[in-house]
Amino acid sequence: MKKQTTRRKFIRIGSIGLGGLMLGCQKLELKNTQVGAAADATPQTDATLATDAGSDTNLGLDTNLDGNPGGDASLDTHAGADTNKTCVETADNIEGPYYAEGIPVRSDLDLYGDVGDALLLSGVVRDIQCNVIENAVVHIWHADPGAVYHNTTAELRYYGQVATDASGAFKFKTLMPGRYLNGSQYRPAHVHCKVFVKGQLKLTTQIYFEDDPYNDIDPFIVDTLIIKREGSGAATFDIVV
Ligand SMILES: [Fe+2]
Repeated sequence: MKKQTTRRKFIRIGSIGLGGLMLGCQKLELKNTQVGAAADATPQTDATLATDAGSDTNLGLDTNLDGNPGGDASLDTHAGADTNKTCVETADNIEGPYYAEGIPVRSDLDLYGDVGDALLLSGVVRDIQCNVIENAVVHIWHADPGAVYHNTTAELRYYGQVATDASGAFKFKTLMPGRYLNGSQYRPAHVHCKVFVKGQLKLTTQIYFEDDPYNDIDPFIVDTLIIKREGSGAATFDIVV
C-alpha cells in the first residue's frame, strides 16, 4: 500500500499541470461553503426540498437501517452521547464539471433499463462528535454505465438526492458508473457526492471503489474515499461532516 501511495503521489505531482488543463472548470470546493447567497439559491432549495421530503415514503429510505452499515474504523458508532469522542471528517474531492441544479429527490437511479453492475450505496452521516445527523441531504451524480453524464437532459439520469432518516442513514440504488477518458487517461469509476446540513453545503467529494484498474494512476483519488463494493453490489460510504 505504501508503495502505491508513493506512486500515486508522484503521479499527482506530475499531473497537476495536466490535470488542471484537462479539468477546465473543475474546482475544489472548501467545506462549510455557505449556500445562502442569492446566486446559490438553488442548492438551498434542493436541500429544503429533500428535507421536506424526508417523510415521503417514495424516497425509499429504509428507516430500519441500523445506522451502522459500514466497517469504517474511523467511526465510533457508540459515541452518540459522548461529545468527547470525535470522528474523522470525510475528505473533500473535486466537484468536476457535471454537477447540475434541480437534482431530483429519489433514491432509485436505476430507472432506464441500462445494462450494468448493481450499486447499492448506503451510509450514515455524522458530525465530528460522531452524532448521527437526521435530515442531512445527500446529492449524488455519476456517469451512466456507458460513461456518459446526463447533466444537460431533463431527466438528469443517474442524479439523485435523499435526506437522511432519524438514524442518519441514506441509501441509493443505481448502477456502477462507466469509466471515462479525462484527457489521455481514464478516470476510475466514481460517484460524485455533496452533503448539505440545514441548507449549508458541508462536503463535496467523490466515492471510489477498490480494485479499479485506474485507481493507481488517477491524479485526484484520495485513499480514504475508496470503498469496497460487495458482489451483491452493496457498498458503504459513511460520511462525517
Ligand atoms: Fe466524474
